[in-house]
Amino acid sequence: MDRLIITDVSPRDGLQNQPMGISTADKLRLIDSLVRAGLQSVEATSFVSPKAVPQMADAGEVLSALLLRQPQLRSSVLVPNLKGLERAHAAGAREIAVVLAATETMNQKNINMSLQQATEVSAQTLLAARAHGMKTRAYIAVAFDCPFEGATPLEPVMALSQRMLDAGADELVIADTIGAASPGMVRDRTRNLLAQVPVDQLAMHFHDTRGMGVANAWAAVEQGVRRFDASAGGIGGCPFAPGAAGNVATEDLVLMAERSGLATGIDLMALLDTVDLAEELLGRPLGGRSATWLRRQRDKDRRGALPA
Ligand code: COA
Ligand code: ZN
Repeated sequence: MDRLIITDVSPRDGLQNQPMGISTADKLRLIDSLVRAGLQSVEATSFVSPKAVPQMADAGEVLSALLLRQPQLRSSVLVPNLKGLERAHAAGAREIAVVLAATETMNQKNINMSLQQATEVSAQTLLAARAHGMKTRAYIAVAFDCPFEGATPLEPVMALSQRMLDAGADELVIADTIGAASPGMVRDRTRNLLAQVPVDQLAMHFHDTRGMGVANAWAAVEQGVRRFDASAGGIGGCPFAPGAAGNVATEDLVLMAERSGLATGIDLMALLDTVDLAEELLGRPLGGRSATWLRRQRDKDRRGALPA
């Protein structure tokens, strides 16, 4: 059966911007819950400056504990530079993701580098990761729209994608960091990308700021893309990209896929338990666009399971 491969980024994209501290133990509980729901790939944390993102200061503890308790899980971690890579390596990382934005200003705001510096640092980091035998992903952030520069032209997205593939990225992650894309834009950009990127090396990362996340994912599916990032409960957002709301919710993507004949290996009812746990940890109601309906189905199932 045709399959969708989903990387749940809630432990990183979802938690990096939360106002309250989440303990290392609770981060691990969240990831355990994702694994129980059938997720085979997560982005576990990020090895970034703790001054820039204090929520990820425990990256080393999270990753080393996770590798012990979930050895079969594909656990990627975000690293912005060689220092992050070496910290990730020390914690046992087997897969990393570098982050390069397609506009000058977004690189400055996010990682305090010019576009040219960020390109060089990302390429060096990919090379060093491969020398450690790690798998690699390369994010192309603000690939549709930038909060500082407006519509992102196609040309840098194509050029930076090629540069990251040449530097040895196993997978490109084309990110709509602020959730401003629309299905027509996704169709066009995906077609262009697929003319130069093998489909099994292309993943898409959508945010749901304008309610277009699922429609955007479907537009990419129709072009042949099968790899997506998503976040349980739709939590997420970059602290350095004003206006960015949460990622497209994993439950929405799974429901879309399964109802359209694409397998995901994910159990929606178990995934609702993850959304419930995220609610408990963040102390507010969560859930993607389908969560209300899904919870109603769960309530019905539970009532049906009661003895008459
Ligand atoms: N992990 C931990 N510490 C790091 C680090 C890393 N990956 N990279 C740099 N540092 C430390 C340096 O050792 C230095 O520490 P010191 O002040 O104690 O000497 C300090 O951070 C400044 O280092 P510098 O190289 O000048 O970095 P910077 O201040 O220009 O910041 C980044 C650059 C990339 C480290 C920072 O902007 C960052 O971490 N950004 C992440 C943004 C992010 O996570 N965005 C959301 C996901 S896309
Ligand atoms: Zn994101």
